[in-house]
Amino acid sequence: MASQLLLLALLAASSSIASASDPSSLQDFCVADKASVLVNGRVCKDPKLVEANDFFFSGLHLAGNTSNAVGSRVTPIGVAQIGGLNALGITAARIDFAPWGLNPPHTHPRATEILTVLEGSLKVGFVTSNTENRLITKVLQKGDVFVFPVGLVHFQQNVGNGNAVALVALSSQNPGVITIANAVFGSNPDIPADILAKAFQVDTNAIYSLQSKF
Ligand SMILES: *[C@@H]1O[C@H](CO)[C@@H](O)[C@H](O)[C@H]1NC(C)=O
Repeated sequence: MASQLLLLALLAASSSIASASDPSSLQDFCVADKASVLVNGRVCKDPKLVEANDFFFSGLHLAGNTSNAVGSRVTPIGVAQIGGLNALGITAARIDFAPWGLNPPHTHPRATEILTVLEGSLKVGFVTSNTENRLITKVLQKGDVFVFPVGLVHFQQNVGNGNAVALVALSSQNPGVITIANAVFGSNPDIPADILAKAFQVDTNAIYSLQSKF
């Protein structure tokens, strides 16, 4: 009986792992149509009307505008930019960094990310989950590749005096992004300051100061 329960538990665990990524497609493609409702993915365009431009994007050589508080800009290439990506479980993005610019700590709840440095040097890192909370970090140069496992909090910082550029790919059509500071200190409405003061072990004035910035 105990071994049957164990077997059931293992089966349940393995099937939940298998369904944790985007579902695999049962057809060659399902190019997203402009119209209407989306459920888990988008409505498909009639395959007979599909053309090369449905799988195409132009302009990723153009730098994103990094004139903002953190000095970085993500230019996403997802199903909104390339309808042919619909239901295929992958997206890309270009990230531009001003000198010392930062893509601040954030997480993608549905995707692993693989990053390639195209220009400059980046200090990157991610933190393992609560059993250890270990920071795994490295300085990357042009041509270096680094992986951020699904769900883990991670960041990238330009550690050079010139601009830096990275190209990333993410293993979901809709990776999601939760920027930690914005979610915690910039929620709408605010998380009550006494909750954050206890969570972060500071006084409420420190929390009000942080909340005023997000
Ligand atoms: C970049 O963004 C800043 C701040 O929003 C804006 O003032 C500036 O005009 C933008 N630059 C370009 C080239 O679009």
